[in-house]
Amino acid sequence: MIYLNNRLVPEKKALVSVFDHGFLYGDGIYETMRAYKGVVFMLDEHLERLFRSASMIALKIPMAPEAIRKAVYQTLKANGHKEAVIRISISRGKGPIGLDPDLCPSPTFVVMSGEFRKHPGRHYRKGVKLAIVETRRNYSGALDPRIKSLNFLNNILAKIEAKKRGAYEAVMLNYRGYVAEGTISNIFFIKDRVLCTPAAGVGILDGITRRIIIDSAKELGIGVREGRFRKEDIYHAREVFISNTTMEVMPVAEADHIKIGTAPGEMTLALHQAYKKKVNEFIKSSPRD
Ligand code: PDD
Repeated sequence: MIYLNNRLVPEKKALVSVFDHGFLYGDGIYETMRAYKGVVFMLDEHLERLFRSASMIALKIPMAPEAIRKAVYQTLKANGHKEAVIRISISRGKGPIGLDPDLCPSPTFVVMSGEFRKHPGRHYRKGVKLAIVETRRNYSGALDPRIKSLNFLNNILAKIEAKKRGAYEAVMLNYRGYVAEGTISNIFFIKDRVLCTPAAGVGILDGITRRIIIDSAKELGIGVREGRFRKEDIYHAREVFISNTTMEVMPVAEADHIKIGTAPGEMTLALHQAYKKKVNEFIKSSPRD
């Protein structure tokens, strides 16, 4: 079942117009969330980011956060999912050809839920390969990566490059050559026992997983540096990992065929443990109905 606009409909009936500006122009925003044991992890933070993305593209979401929260849980329950990946997509809506947002009187609102399919265990046991690609991350003065937009071509072009090079994930540099982020993930590395990650100002999506990892590191007494880094910093790091809502903390074994110190590294494992602990605490403290 899919939640479309204001109700749940079977997938076959969940149809959107070819005049939808999400389809015509990639005009819209989205969020991906993870449910554990039927509880949507960090739902408030995802809704906050959804509303921030909306305001950055002058899109008025036709529902209050509380109504979206209800729609998310209704979708999860209607599908009987406990371990799930949930996506909220909101497009500008249906309107005649033309870029003017005012052509679209009502946004299209969709919630989808799918059974969570575990990432292969070997990714966590051995680490994945990265390619630091030629495609640069969008310049924030043109299309700010903080907007989690439906227009993902920048990331898709990077993904195509990574696939050609046999890598699991691409890492993009920003327009000035500083390490920015993956196509769907943030990047971290350990150097001199300090956890390093590109600062938000480099032009990235400030991942919700990223924030949890930074907080966990501070709680564990690990030094944290959010800064500007070059690709050589990745090559020479002791440990490297990538993060997002579904991967959590995924170790990296190689970047551009250069072997990283250790994978999975000791601090990577400790931070993943700390992340899992936060998930468990979140589930325990969430009210059930
Ligand atoms: N992607 N950077 C980019 C470009 C992303 O698309 C994502 C998430 C992240 C990590 O954000 P978070 O920790 O909040 O998941 C960083 C999601 C998973 C997606 O595209 O479906």
